Amino acid sequence: MHYYLITGASRGLGRALADAVLQRPDATVLGVSRHATIEHPRYQHQPLDLSDIDAVENNLYKLFVPRPDASSLTLINNAAVLGQIGYFGTQKSEHFNFVFDLNVVAPAMLMNGFLAAYGNLAVPRTILNISSGAAQRAVDGWGAYSASKAALNALSQTVQKEQDLRGSGVRVRALSPGVLDTAMQEHIRAADEAQFSEAAKFAYLHTEGRLQEPEAVAASIVSWLRAPLPVGEGVVLRLEDIK
Ligand SMILES: NC(=O)c1ccc[n+]([C@@H]2O[C@H](COP(=O)([O-])OP(=O)(O)OC[C@H]3O[C@@H](n4cnc5c(N)ncnc54)[C@H](OP(=O)(O)O)[C@@H]3O)[C@@H](O)[C@H]2O)c1
Repeated sequence: MHYYLITGASRGLGRALADAVLQRPDATVLGVSRHATIEHPRYQHQPLDLSDIDAVENNLYKLFVPRPDASSLTLINNAAVLGQIGYFGTQKSEHFNFVFDLNVVAPAMLMNGFLAAYGNLAVPRTILNISSGAAQRAVDGWGAYSASKAALNALSQTVQKEQDLRGSGVRVRALSPGVLDTAMQEHIRAADEAQFSEAAKFAYLHTEGRLQEPEAVAASIVSWLRAPLPVGEGVVLRLEDIK
């Protein structure tokens, strides 16, 4: 059995990834999010608020159970939030905790739990962290989000280096999926233009039908994950790199 743990599997890209994985008859998905929306015989749900770090810690043992029949094991850290879009000087302090807990601390804890449980196994193991192009460019109003995704890229590179030094064979990647037609984009389009200079650009992408459907992006990601490992593949990737 091919085991996938996908955070944020209730909607958007995470839901599309879970649906794509479940099309394969020898795959099961453990979805982690606050809401459960998938009903499938090979889908299991763990309700969890990933911004509640004590709850994440207390539930880790349920996520990384022994999988003696595993043919492969994959962790996809997909759940994330932009948080309130706004300039520095207008934010409440708890905004930074919230965005970093959900987008960085929880994924780091899940990577740690995954490697503690499965790091010494012989089957293929993959950690995929869903990143953003905002990690690599300044986007006004998105400070905490951009920094959190840059941190996730750095964590991915460090963990891959550690696994390479150990010769464990674990593959770690951070992937920017591009601009997707999900609730996160609705949140972006609702932003105050005075707090986000790119508001008109994102509204234009939507009205012009330029947003990618999460199902199509998920299909590309899942087929890339299943394909043989390309020689010399980097750790931090964009969707164009895997198509
Ligand atoms: N959409 C884009 O254009 C875009 C662009 C670049 C990168 N990304 C990245 O792609 C990934 C998926 O984004 P998306 O657009 O699919 O987002 P989305 O539609 O807003 O969905 C977010 C998912 O995360 C879960 N989530 C949110 N808060 C949570 C919490 N406190 N605890 C547990 N789960 C939580 C949600 O589930 P519940 O509400 O059920 O908890 C939901 O399943 C993210 O990492 C995002 O940064 C998106």
